[in-house]
Amino acid sequence: MSPVFRGVDVTAREEKPFRLIATTLVVMGAREQLPSDRDGTGRLAIARSLARTAPQWPPHVGVGGRSVHSTRTDVPDRTARGVLDRVARWLGPPGDPAARGRAEAFPYREVVERYRHHGRTYADPALVEALREVHARLPAPRTLPERLLADWLPSTFDQDDGDYDSYVNMPVLERLADEYPGADADTVHDAELVALLSDLLIVEGEALAADPGAHPQRVRTHATLQALARAAELAPLAAGAVGVALDSRGGRRIGRDDTALAGWARLRGQDVLDRVPAPVRRTVESAMLPTTPLHDEIMFIRSVQIFEIVYRQMFRCLERAVAALLDGDPVAAAGELDDAGRRVAATPVLFRVLTTMSRPAFAHIRAHTDGRSAVQSRAYRQVERLSAVRPPAATDARTAPVVITGPTLQEAFDARLADLGPDAMRPVAEAMLRLDRGWRAMKRTHWGITRKIIGSVPGTGGTSGADYLKGTAEIPLFPGLHDAAWERAAG
Ligand code: HEM
Repeated sequence: MSPVFRGVDVTAREEKPFRLIATTLVVMGAREQLPSDRDGTGRLAIARSLARTAPQWPPHVGVGGRSVHSTRTDVPDRTARGVLDRVARWLGPPGDPAARGRAEAFPYREVVERYRHHGRTYADPALVEALREVHARLPAPRTLPERLLADWLPSTFDQDDGDYDSYVNMPVLERLADEYPGADADTVHDAELVALLSDLLIVEGEALAADPGAHPQRVRTHATLQALARAAELAPLAAGAVGVALDSRGGRRIGRDDTALAGWARLRGQDVLDRVPAPVRRTVESAMLPTTPLHDEIMFIRSVQIFEIVYRQMFRCLERAVAALLDGDPVAAAGELDDAGRRVAATPVLFRVLTTMSRPAFAHIRAHTDGRSAVQSRAYRQVERLSAVRPPAATDARTAPVVITGPTLQEAFDARLADLGPDAMRPVAEAMLRLDRGWRAMKRTHWGITRKIIGSVPGTGGTSGADYLKGTAEIPLFPGLHDAAWERAAG
């Protein structure tokens, strides 16, 4: 038995699904009576992850403080036992797979509530181990809800070996987009982006309502409202899916009345979120498992998820642009590149939200996310690798290699230029230069924010941090295009 679990009854049996036995766990930092789980052999299956001792979090709610979720006391089934019971009931007894609930009925919300309350790092070890066991006992998934559950569960028990993807739950957002019945992945990704942004707006509005008068929270809430108001540029396909003119009602002026601003932010966020298709909404809700109970981490995770969708959409535009060039269709290629360019050009509104990050809170977040650096972002690397051959970028042990088969955009462009000539290719070159400018502007802004928030300390991916970002922001996306004639043509 692990030395951190004492006083656990390993012999008694009770006829309950999952053989839950109420025991007092003497776990570092655990305050509640928790049920424990045993497998068929009577071996305790809960003792693997040690409870961690949380730092003293700031007492206030909002920017620089705790999340509203972490302070809520009105949530039913909030206790560790309540959540573990729900998971156990869903799973059914060992050896009886027929008793397991349908994937759609998995108690996501209860688990997420619990994780948001404490932070993933400080989740109850019994719950973490139960979720690991649920994952181990899942049969090969056959339906989309089963695949979503199989993708989601690893993020709940990745405290010791998580990576960037498991941190921000990207696999579920990608899976839903790729397999959504009757809708193409691009439309679903755009709907996800809008759902992520409106969910964030609700969270920021709730925090402002909890502490009206808090200046940093007011600034954050305003910035998030503005970002949602620009959602049509970030996610142009979402308007159809969400069924609302995204940019028509976001910019209402509220002045300095924080209660009114908080109310409007929640109303506006909820209005848009309610229009998002339910599977997208539910997946977005489940994709929030912060490692800490800090309010700023909610914003950080949502920002990363939103940028990841922007990168994915840009990569798909680039793929289609390469295909169009190979087909000899420069007009279609320029259209795709312009789509990518408009998306990246809209990202300053997202950075205005990100720049409201509290420095002390980010120091905590960094301490909890070591080994989960965005240098592991596959979609970001795909954009850069498909654009042109370039020097290798920073990687760490958990970065998956990105392999581009076929020509890069620059290579496809050069080949077409040779047969079609500069006049036919001018619109493509101009679109490439606009995209390049937008991409590098985005990287410069990221560098500026990094310098402001962490100064000159190294990054969690093992780079020199801000200096590394400054260097990469200077490398063009299409180095072969930077000849004065094309630059002049593009204005
Ligand atoms: C307060 C906010 C942020 C800070 C302080 C920050 C800091 C850093 C640092 C220091 C690096 C260098 C790599 C490392 O050693 O970890 C980095 C890389 C990176 N970050 Fe951020 N970041 C922030 C927000 C974001 C967000 C919201 C995204 C969106 C996905 C993002 C995407 C990236 C990407 C893609 C890289 C790799 C860049 C490359 O290799 O060219 N970052 N970030």
